[in-house]
Amino acid sequence: MGRVTGKVAIVTGGASGIGRSCAELLAQEGATVVITDIQEAMGRECADVITAAGNHAQFLAHDVTSEQDWINVIEQTVREHNGLHILVNNAGIGIAGSIVDMSLEDWQRQQAINLDGVFLGVKHAIPAMRNSGSGSIINMSSVAGLKGAASLSAYNATKGGVRLFTKGVALECAESRWPIRVNSVHPGIIDTPIWTKVNPEFFSEGGNAVDVEAMAELGVPTGKAGYPRDIANGVLFLASDEASYITGTELVIDGGISA
Ligand SMILES: NC(=O)c1ccc[n+]([C@@H]2O[C@H](COP(=O)([O-])OP(=O)(O)OC[C@H]3O[C@@H](n4cnc5c(N)ncnc54)[C@H](O)[C@@H]3O)[C@@H](O)[C@H]2O)c1
Repeated sequence: MGRVTGKVAIVTGGASGIGRSCAELLAQEGATVVITDIQEAMGRECADVITAAGNHAQFLAHDVTSEQDWINVIEQTVREHNGLHILVNNAGIGIAGSIVDMSLEDWQRQQAINLDGVFLGVKHAIPAMRNSGSGSIINMSSVAGLKGAASLSAYNATKGGVRLFTKGVALECAESRWPIRVNSVHPGIIDTPIWTKVNPEFFSEGGNAVDVEAMAELGVPTGKAGYPRDIANGVLFLASDEASYITGTELVIDGGISA
């Protein structure tokens, strides 16, 4: 207990799946957590559950593609909680399918959420973290940011972008002597609602949107899907002072897929 006591965290996409588990675990370990999402009812419910357990959380409506929303969220967080020390850039979507059938609109929507959203978060969090004395930024990439997949090339582009953007920003912070660490996390197949939103043609070779375990049996060396808490445990470590010498790296949590 208490691995991030006294720290203030923002978790984007915190209403569901991996983000929700990150928010719950960071709050359990002593952080004040600002949960942000476009799913307002679910986000508020998540904050209420955390608060009812005696920990500290707040929900703010936030579209990560909006720079004005980012300015508002960070300004309100700093004003109400006296700082910002942890940012989990987690919000994301997956649009699958053949690249020759992908519309420019879908390409740009996925880029806007998965990559522009991370850029905006990093850009606006760094000044707040410098003023707060320290920071840890954790960008949610994917195993799909490490290796390609035929039906996920547009998603690969966003998550590969997150991976190298993370390293470049980590080096800028290090060379500038800003006390901010920046790392990426790379989940494999994790049982969350994201799979129910991926377009159905992705699942034509054996799995389906409602059976993540069957998909994992086919595609994960351990034969098992991961759970949001598996990812949250890694995020907590990177957010905590236990990871104080870790920056610019990638934490892969994938049951061996990338091995
Ligand atoms: N589940 C997996 O297998 C898996 C694997 C690798 C990477 N990831 C990544 O993990 C992250 C979380 O995914 P998840 O599996 O928990 O999915 P999820 O769908 O359960 O959660 C994603 C959350 O992001 C929110 N969101 C979407 N667009 C948004 C926007 N414009 N602004 C703010 N919030 C927005 C959604 O409302 C949702 O609450 C994503 O970045 C995803 O790409 C997931």
